[in-house]
Amino acid sequence: MYQAPRGTSDILPQEQAYWRYLEQKTANICQLYGYERIDAPAFEDTRLFSRSVGEGTDIVEKEMYTFEDRGGNKITLRPEGTAPVCRAYVEHGMHNLAQPVKLYYLASIFRYERPQAGRFRQHHQFGYEAIGDDDPALDAEVIDMAWQFFRSLNLRHLSLNLNSIGCKTCRPEYLIALKDYYADYIDDLCADCKTRLARNPLRLLDCKKRSCQPISDSAPRSIDYLCPQCAEHFKQLQRYLGLLELPFEVNHRLVRGLDYYTRTVFEIQPETERAQSTLGGGGRYDGLIEELGGKPTPAIGFAVGIERIISNLKKYNVPVPALPRAQVFIAYVGDEVKDEAIKLASRLRQAGIGVIEAIGSKSLKAQLRQANTIGVQHTVIIGDQELKTATVILRDMTNAQQEAVPLTRLEERLR
Ligand code: HAM
Repeated sequence: MYQAPRGTSDILPQEQAYWRYLEQKTANICQLYGYERIDAPAFEDTRLFSRSVGEGTDIVEKEMYTFEDRGGNKITLRPEGTAPVCRAYVEHGMHNLAQPVKLYYLASIFRYERPQAGRFRQHHQFGYEAIGDDDPALDAEVIDMAWQFFRSLNLRHLSLNLNSIGCKTCRPEYLIALKDYYADYIDDLCADCKTRLARNPLRLLDCKKRSCQPISDSAPRSIDYLCPQCAEHFKQLQRYLGLLELPFEVNHRLVRGLDYYTRTVFEIQPETERAQSTLGGGGRYDGLIEELGGKPTPAIGFAVGIERIISNLKKYNVPVPALPRAQVFIAYVGDEVKDEAIKLASRLRQAGIGVIEAIGSKSLKAQLRQANTIGVQHTVIIGDQELKTATVILRDMTNAQQEAVPLTRLEERLR
C-alpha cells in the first residue's frame, strides 16, 4: 500500500472549505492593503536559498529538498517564499515600478523537518512582501495587516512579539557581546548551542531546550546595541504600533530562523502556547535584494502557515462557509428514458444549475438513497409516463414531497 510521504497530507474534499475560505480571506486582506498576487516556481536554483536564508541556518543545513536535475543543475524545492519573490523583483526590474512594490503569495513550502503536530515536510504559506522602502510606517503597516488578518478570521487571544536585531553596522558589535556572554556558560549549553556559538550566535537566543533558557533570559539584548539609525527606526515603529493600538510586546529573544533579517522582526502566536505553535513570522530584510544582485533595496514581509491557521480555526470552532455544491439529482426509471435524463442533465448544467446524474442501472429506490447520501435538495425523477406528458416528478429531499412539473417549467422551478 502506498501512503502519502511522511510529513505530507492529502487535502480531502471535506477539508477544502477551509482552504477556499482562506484563499478568499487572504485575497480580501491583500486588496485592503494594496498587495498583488505573484506565483513563483516551486523550485529554484539552490544558491538562491543558501545565499539568502543563510548557510548556517537549520533550513539550509538540514531541511532543504535539493537534487540535481537531468541537466546537472542544482535545484531546491522552495523552503520559504521570500527569496523567490525577491529574485522575481530583481529579474523583472520591479525597481522601475512605484515603490514599495507589494506582492503576496499562497504557496506550498518544503522542509525536511521531523514531523510532529503543526510541523510538516510540505506545508503551505500565505506570505506578503513590501519591497522598496525603509520607512518604519511600512513596518507598522505590515504588522497591522498580519494582526487584522487574524482578526478577520475571528482568531483572538494572540500575542505579538517584536524585536529589532539591528543592521550590518551595529550587529557585529552585538554578536561579539553575545559570544562573550555565552562563552562563560559553554559547559552548560546544549550540543546545538555549542555549534551555534561558533556558527550562528544569534540563534542561541531562541534555543528551545529547557537547560538553555535561564542563560538566554539574561543574555545581552540586541536593542541595547542598536546604532542611532536603527534605534530611531525601532522607536518610530513602536510609536506607530501604539497609534494603531496593536498590543505588542518587545521580546529580546526573538531572532527568527532565517539569516536575511535586519532591524524589525516579529511573530504572532496563540497567547497560551509555546513558540513551536507560532502562527506567523516576518521582518525586515534590507540587504537581501542587493545580495541577490539588485540595487540596495530595503524590504519587509510576513508569512503564516495555512495548516496552523486551520488547526486553530478548528480548535476554536470558528465556522467556515460551506462550499457551493450541486443541489439537484436526476433519477430515471427504465433504460428507455436514460437518453432523456442525460440530455436533461446537460441542459440544466448549461443553464448554470449543478446536477448529479444517476449513473449505471440502479433501481429507483437505490437512486433515491444515493441522492439522500449525497445530500442534494431536490431529485428530478423521469419515467416513461412522464416522458409521454413532457413532465417530470420533482421530489423535495428534505420532506419527500413530490409534484409533477412540466419540463418547460423545470429550470425556472429549480431556480
Ligand atoms: P517562517 O517563520 O520560517 O518564515 O515560516 C512562516 C510560518 O510558516 C511559520 O510561522 C509557521 O506558521 C509556518 N511553518 C513553518 N514551517 C512549518 C512546517 N514545517 N510545518 C507547518 N508550518 C510551518 C518564513 O518562511 C519567512 N519567509 C517569512 C517572511 C516573509 N519573512 C519576511 N517575509
